[in-house]
Amino acid sequence: MEELNYGPLIESDADCVQKWLADWLTRHVSGWSGAYGLDWTTNDIKAHIERQALVGREWAEIRAAAADRDCFVCVAKAGRTPVGLVYAEKRTDRYLALTTGVISWIYVDPSARQKGVALRLLGEAHGWFVQQHVSVSEVFVTASNRAALAAYERGGYRVLDHRLLAVMRDPSSE
Ligand SMILES: CC(C)(COP(=O)(O)OP(=O)(O)OC[C@H]1O[C@@H](n2cnc3c(N)ncnc32)[C@H](O)[C@@H]1OP(=O)(O)O)[C@@H](O)C(=O)NCCC(=O)NCCS
Repeated sequence: MEELNYGPLIESDADCVQKWLADWLTRHVSGWSGAYGLDWTTNDIKAHIERQALVGREWAEIRAAAADRDCFVCVAKAGRTPVGLVYAEKRTDRYLALTTGVISWIYVDPSARQKGVALRLLGEAHGWFVQQHVSVSEVFVTASNRAALAAYERGGYRVLDHRLLAVMRDPSSE
């Protein structure tokens, strides 16, 4: 992978990041609608994402985060072309009253994957955490997302938690 440069999110990144969000949301809604026992087709998923204006909402959240001192949004570029983004934030642990770091989203363009871009973006986020005196970072990821699990583990994370889900069956409907 050629040398990358890292910078803040800017308005001209919109098309690219919104394309990434659309891809990510399709995978996310597809995976979770299945986990929740919903029998959604590809068209249902597409219609849901459009109806709920999810891409626009996520884009607005990332834009707001980019202007928020408690968040870090960093875009990696090869020349002027965005190849990946990391969005990290500070939170307060409600039990320990400690400021922790959270990796809220990371995405690497499919054309740039498996070349170390995610690791470099994690490095940028970790650098920001250190500057902010944040000593621990966490991330939530679905077990089926093997690429993300591998990248996070390679980036120093270890699995600490399990989220379990049971779909309720209504015997009267059987
Ligand atoms: C997850 C994702 C960010 C990884 O980005 P990437 O730039 O390809 O990752 P890297 O090249 O930095 O790889 C980091 C490590 O993970 C491993 N890895 C990455 N993709 C992998 C895959 N598909 N299968 C197995 N291992 C994988 C790499 O081999 C590397 O380990 P190594 O150095 O020991 O070889 C990318 O696949 C992506 O954008 N996925 C869609 C969005 C997503 O799922 N985001 C995470 C949820 S918030």
